[in-house]
Amino acid sequence: MPYSYSTDVLGRTMKRQVLLFVSVLCLRSALSQVSYSIPEEMAKGSLVGNIAQDLGLDVKRLLVGKARIHTGDNAEYIELNRERGLLVIKEKIDREALCAQTTPCALHFQIALENPIEIFPVTVEITDINDNAPVFKKEERRFEISESAVVGSKFMLDKAIDPDIGLNGLQSYTLKSSENFVLKMHSQSDGGKKVEMILQKPLDREKQEFASLLLTAVDGGDPQRSGTMQIHITVLDVNDNAPVFTQNVYKASVKEDSVKGTLITKVSASDADKGSNGEISYVIGSSVGIIPNLFAVNENGNLFLNGPIDYEKAKKYEIDIEAVDSGGLSDSSKVIVDVGDVNDNSPIINIISSSHAIGEDSLLSTVVAVMSVNDHDSDNNGKVQCAIDRNIPFSITSSVSNFYSIVTNGNLDRERSFQYNITVTCSDEGVPSLSSSVTLTLQISDVNDNAPVFERSSYEAYIVENNTPGVSIFTVKAADADWNQNARVSYILEDSSVNGVPVSSYVSVSADSGVIHAVRSFDYEQIKDFQFLVKAQDGGSPPLGSNVTVKILIQDQNDNPPQVLYPVQTGGSVVAEMVPRSADVGYLVTKVVAVDVDSGQNAWLSYKLQKATDRALFEVGLQNGEIRTIRQVNDKDAVKQRLTVIVEDNGQPSRSATVIVNVAVADSFPEVLSEFTDLIHDKEYNDNLTFYLVLALAVVSFLFITCVVVIISVKIYRWRQSRILYQSNLPVIPYYPPRYSDTLGTGTLQHVYNYEVCRTTDSRKSDCKFGRAGSQNVLIMDPSSTGTMQRIQSEKSILDEPDSPLEVRP
Ligand SMILES: *[C@@H]1O[C@H](CO)[C@@H](O)[C@H](O)[C@H]1NC(C)=O
Ligand SMILES: *[C@@H]1O[C@H](CO)[C@@H](O)[C@H](O)[C@H]1NC(C)=O
Repeated sequence: MPYSYSTDVLGRTMKRQVLLFVSVLCLRSALSQVSYSIPEEMAKGSLVGNIAQDLGLDVKRLLVGKARIHTGDNAEYIELNRERGLLVIKEKIDREALCAQTTPCALHFQIALENPIEIFPVTVEITDINDNAPVFKKEERRFEISESAVVGSKFMLDKAIDPDIGLNGLQSYTLKSSENFVLKMHSQSDGGKKVEMILQKPLDREKQEFASLLLTAVDGGDPQRSGTMQIHITVLDVNDNAPVFTQNVYKASVKEDSVKGTLITKVSASDADKGSNGEISYVIGSSVGIIPNLFAVNENGNLFLNGPIDYEKAKKYEIDIEAVDSGGLSDSSKVIVDVGDVNDNSPIINIISSSHAIGEDSLLSTVVAVMSVNDHDSDNNGKVQCAIDRNIPFSITSSVSNFYSIVTNGNLDRERSFQYNITVTCSDEGVPSLSSSVTLTLQISDVNDNAPVFERSSYEAYIVENNTPGVSIFTVKAADADWNQNARVSYILEDSSVNGVPVSSYVSVSADSGVIHAVRSFDYEQIKDFQFLVKAQDGGSPPLGSNVTVKILIQDQNDNPPQVLYPVQTGGSVVAEMVPRSADVGYLVTKVVAVDVDSGQNAWLSYKLQKATDRALFEVGLQNGEIRTIRQVNDKDAVKQRLTVIVEDNGQPSRSATVIVNVAVADSFPEVLSEFTDLIHDKEYNDNLTFYLVLALAVVSFLFITCVVVIISVKIYRWRQSRILYQSNLPVIPYYPPRYSDTLGTGTLQHVYNYEVCRTTDSRKSDCKFGRAGSQNVLIMDPSSTGTMQRIQSEKSILDEPDSPLEVRP
């Protein structure tokens, strides 16, 4: 027996084969039964056994008996070599194909002989050789195992199949290179083995995500054969890792003027998990003191500025940032953001107190304004310097930090500058520097420090005599540099006297316009000039004043006719010049002497013969008034010669006077007398005229006296009042009577008032003059005077001055 079973596993099969073998031997002895045992897979023609010998037969017998193999329906794997009496392999035998797992595996056939027929059964047992390796149905197997799988979890593995039997069949499995898994085999009732993989150590996807194991099945043959299967394990992720920030604290800084969207910093967290378990989102945790939404973080961990920040409000932000994965695991970190100052705040100027106006007499270092200045920036950006214009008499000082005072540092003069615009400019030291400014308007209030000043140091004015009383002569003007009441100039006539008469009776000064009015009508013949002082006084307290000399020059007018001094024209007597008949040509008869109280041309007199009894006899010297004969007097010439000489002045228009010169051409006085008596022939007419004149004068005198009394009393009353007004030491306040209405803005009624007084005075004067004239006339009115003369005199008295006895109006 070339084959023996050595393993216990197959012990039972072996016992059966031994029993069979014994029975075959017994059968052979009876039926000549033969058994063989050969391994499978022998090559064709290989010897199975010497059947002739084993049956105890001759080879001849085999040939004669036509020995053959009878298999029935079965395939013939073995053939008989009759010549040599051998059984050989006809076809390769595969035990697994023939018997599968059945044991023992044997071929049963008969050797049949003829002549005589003999049947010999033959049994060929086929023994197994290890010609098959274990085989897995699939070459690989995939598992997906969660990393959270617990230790002891079982995973069924595919079995391998080995058709060989016995020791040559599948014996065991091995699993290569895995520390996480072990194999466990379970024998099954059919003799097969169930194999499973057991987790002995937890998986960690984060350490090893994929594993490749090799499952090997081996049989027990010699040589040993094996089969393998690849096991691919994918560890499935479980959210077992929280995100982790790369830093606990991030530091960043950002300028306060950064715009929305500025990237501040990037935070980063990592999560060892995979897929959605490792997806991190960042959120800003809510924390105290941070304006919501001031910062934003995106999915990449970029922290952005999301709103305006202000260094002056917060210098630092601490932001809590959380990283959260989709499983809700999180980590937190802190971002400390330092806000960088930028010079974005201008200084703020606050006027704490300021004067609207100060007096021009304010002392040096008078505080005009106090202000506080603040800059919200820090360091140099918040350091502030303030300045004001150097060209004004003010300076800015700082006593306490951030507080500034504006004080005067020069003399103020409202008359030079009544207002100052003080611009305070405060700049910080940032780069670039920011500044702000305020302008204070300061009024300089007036102090009465300027006296009125007349436009000229003295005035001279001219007025033509015989002016209308009340006419304005001239205006003085004084200016006061001060303001308002301090500059309100009043004009005052200073008291003085002119020729012993108060100057106020000559002129008046309008208190607020400075117009000088003539109070009376001037007469050049009485006064040629006069001067007085006008004082200009302002309305300040105390008032300041100055005075000026005003000289009034009266100009002559041809208002006086010449006056004949000789020959004297008296009413009571008739004077006649005697010319002897023997007088020669050029005999000086007489000389008309006349004067004119006017002056200049107005007093330049010329004489002309106006009428003459005999024009051919006399002539008058044009310049000297000498009356001379121009021819020889003869006897035919009348005794009584009457010459009318006209004396004219050179004024424009000229005035004249006539004088009648009676010349007696005679040698003896009686001759003359007889001739001249007829001159007073109409005495009766003169008497009547005298009566009427006396009556008229009496009436006029009565009216005059009444007027004088009334006027004087009124005048005295008003004069007293004006004295009170002008001599008061108080500041001059123009006096306005109750009826006053200021229509032109200047108090004019006072002038009107003065004017009325002037008129009154004037009319009074006129009345006086008239009265005096009348009374003079009365005195002159001598009954012996000639009627012609008296008539002329009366006319003249009413119309004109009384002084010249004879006048003919031009
Ligand atoms: C001050 O400012 C006011 C208003 O701006 C202006 O009318 C005035 O002329 C200024 N005064 C001076 C002295 O500059
Ligand atoms: C002018 O006025 C001043 C003060 O008002 C006075 O002192 C002075 O004497 C006056 N001058 C004349 C010439 O009167």
